[in-house]
Order: sequence, then structure tokens, then C-alpha cells
Amino acid sequence: MGLGGALLLCTSFVLSANSQTPPGGLNAARQAVDERKAVYKLIGANFRPIGNVLKGSTQYDAATIQKSIDRVVFLSGLLDEAFPDISNLGEPETKAKPDIWINRADFDKKEKDFQAHVLAFQKVNETEKGATDAFKSAANAVAQDCKACHDDFRLK
Ligand code: HEC
Repeated sequence: MGLGGALLLCTSFVLSANSQTPPGGLNAARQAVDERKAVYKLIGANFRPIGNVLKGSTQYDAATIQKSIDRVVFLSGLLDEAFPDISNLGEPETKAKPDIWINRADFDKKEKDFQAHVLAFQKVNETEKGATDAFKSAANAVAQDCKACHDDFRLK
């Protein structure tokens, strides 16, 4: 093998060793990010009517609130699969901080707390059926979870 061939081999080795291409390829990683963003977008859209009741800008409407909570319960379950290792792409692809994959236990706990508070809120709403103090406190616990996780694990 001539020097050219050795150089070529060497270069391609360095290129592949440095390559950031995640297993399954960049497309699979981007798809995972897209799906995650879609889940959060829908969580945001469906939590909005609840936030509006908390702010007092909208009256409590039983059917709307019930539907919103049921959807947030369903959507929060999808988060279990929303952070595969391949989706740690960093900016500008995603606002998910690399810390998620470094402090995975802390992140998973925040996700589990969120899911538990969403379920508790669903139960409270079934008995309260109105914007009572108990309703507000259960809804606020969920809203706190959004903020706590965004503070630690979402890029600004
Ligand atoms: C366990 C952590 C965690 C919890 C809990 C959480 N989020 Fe997020 N959220 C994130 C991360 C991380 C991102 C960034 C996702 C990305 O860019 O890939 C995000 C992104 C978003 C986005 C932007 C989606 C987009 O369009 O790109 C919205 C809206 C959002 N979250 C709303 C909420 C609301 C509302 C709640 C609570 C009801 C909530 N989140 C709870 C971690 C969390």
C-alpha cells in the first residue's frame, strides 16, 4: 500500500471515530426529537385551559377541564420513550439539555413526579368538579413540575 492509501485509510478512520452520527442515523435521531417536541407541544396546548382557570382568566368548565386532564395523563405516559440516547443532539436540533443523559436518575425522577401529580390531579378533579382550593393546589403541583424540569433540563 502506498503512502496515499495509508493516508486515506487513516483519514477515514479519524472521520468515523469523530463522527457524531447516532446509531440508527441522524434521521432516526431527528425523528425522535420531532416526536418529543410534538408530545410537549400537545401537553402545553392541553394544559393551557387548566392554566387559564388557575389564572382566573377562564371559568371552570367541567367538560373542557376533564378532557384536558385526560389528554395530559395520556401524553405524560408517552414521555417514558421520549428521551432515547440517540436524541441527545444538542442545539439547534433540540432544547433538551445534555444534562438529561448525564443526570438521568434526577431527570427520570422529575418525569415520574410529573406523571404522579398529573394522575393525582385527575383524581382530585373527579371529586371536586370545580375550581376549588383542592383543585387549584393539585393543578399547581403539576405546573410546578413543568417549571422544575424546564429550569434544570431545558435550554432557554
Ligand atoms: C421531566 C421534564 C419535563 C416536564 C415535567 C415538563 N417538560 Fe416541557 N419540556 C422538557 C424538555 C426537555 C423540553 C425540550 C424538548 C426538545 O426541545 O427536544 C420541553 C419542551 C416543552 C415545550 C416546547 C415544545 C416545542 O414546541 O418544541 C412546551 C410547550 C412544554 N415543554 C410544555 C410543558 C408543560 C406545559 C409541562 C407541564 C404540564 C411540561 N412541559 C413538563 C421537559 C419537561
